[in-house]
Amino acid sequence: MVQVNENYLKLKAGYLFPEISKRVSNFIKANSSSEVIKLGIGDVTEPLPQACVNAMSKALNEMGTNKGFKGYGPEQGYGWLREKIAENDFMSRGCQITPEEIFVSDGSKCDSSNILDILGDNNLIAVTDPVYPVYVDSNVMTGRTGETIQNGTYQGLLYLAINEDNNFLPEIPKSKVDIVYLCFPNNPTGATITKEELKKWVDYANKNKSLILFDAAYEAFIQDKDIPHSIYEIEGAKNCAIEFRSFSKNAGFTGVRCAYTVIPKNLSGHNSKGDKVDLWPLWNRRQCTKFNGVSYIVQRGAEAVYSSQGKKEVNSLIDFYMKNSKIMQNKLRTSGFTVYGGDNAPYVWIKVPVNMTSWDFFDYLLEKANVVGTPGSGFGLAGEGYFRLSAFNSRLNVNNAMERIINI
Ligand code: MLT
Repeated sequence: MVQVNENYLKLKAGYLFPEISKRVSNFIKANSSSEVIKLGIGDVTEPLPQACVNAMSKALNEMGTNKGFKGYGPEQGYGWLREKIAENDFMSRGCQITPEEIFVSDGSKCDSSNILDILGDNNLIAVTDPVYPVYVDSNVMTGRTGETIQNGTYQGLLYLAINEDNNFLPEIPKSKVDIVYLCFPNNPTGATITKEELKKWVDYANKNKSLILFDAAYEAFIQDKDIPHSIYEIEGAKNCAIEFRSFSKNAGFTGVRCAYTVIPKNLSGHNSKGDKVDLWPLWNRRQCTKFNGVSYIVQRGAEAVYSSQGKKEVNSLIDFYMKNSKIMQNKLRTSGFTVYGGDNAPYVWIKVPVNMTSWDFFDYLLEKANVVGTPGSGFGLAGEGYFRLSAFNSRLNVNNAMERIINI
């Protein structure tokens, strides 16, 4: 008799975004004449940068020739891409990250959950609340939590509430945690962290021999000069942090798939005897066994992000979405909403009207304005009372959605 992984049975409902899609499809079926505008999932809408398209077309053509054909590539990613990443994303900001420390992958969502493969089962894990649901669900699936408790959280995880009272910055735990997930610029709240605040986390992690899993998938949206793009801008971070980065949101690769994870060579954990064990060889071993690398064509597309044309095009994509975000902030504020985030991230985080839950507001906006957003409670208990709107859409759709919302 086949036994299932019963940890999956502990999961609450479906994954947030498929659940939203289901509700939206039901609404569209029942209201076929309504034109729904989707500002829910953070999926890009603008076409790929031409520099990436050209590089991928060239690579595809190469692959169709005897001379240019390539089979399996290196599991860690091609050296030429890792070099460009190290130089442009890290060395240029004074972070001493080498190409070897960069592992190219097919997505940060996968990496941020797969990383658990190399980490022990008994670590005490902290997440912010609200949080990108993948961090929580992947811990549940791998048996690192207990059951869900009545208020919708899971036993065994430490939840660090982020809200207006703490400026959406998690407080450093009073006690020791082994692993903490931090995401800045933050999904879902759009909040950012200063170097001084991030330094407190790095110091805490180094003092307690903890590991920070730092998700910087939205760093390209940072507008303020003083906000760190990488945790490695903070002294000591190479001893305590893994960083996840993605080409999805900056270069529009959500449907192309390319990302990378940085595992510094001197980063270590411990075995049960308390001996130091380096994490780099473990992740390398994991990738070599379970992953065959990202396609050559896609990696050439990612490399083009760092060309001068690529950089210009990526900058204008970012400007475009950030202009959307400004429009959303302004319109929503003018019509009386309390709005957070959106200054250095493509997400605005609004307070839902009193007497409504986040899901009530979701239904209300869908029915009355035919606009889809994401209920804050879908990101965790402390997200209740909030609602996320994504700036990823055409200008026309963003303008129309705002008009519809303010005219309900
Ligand atoms: C989101 O909407 O939160 C993002 O699309 C999540 C993701 O990148 O997987």
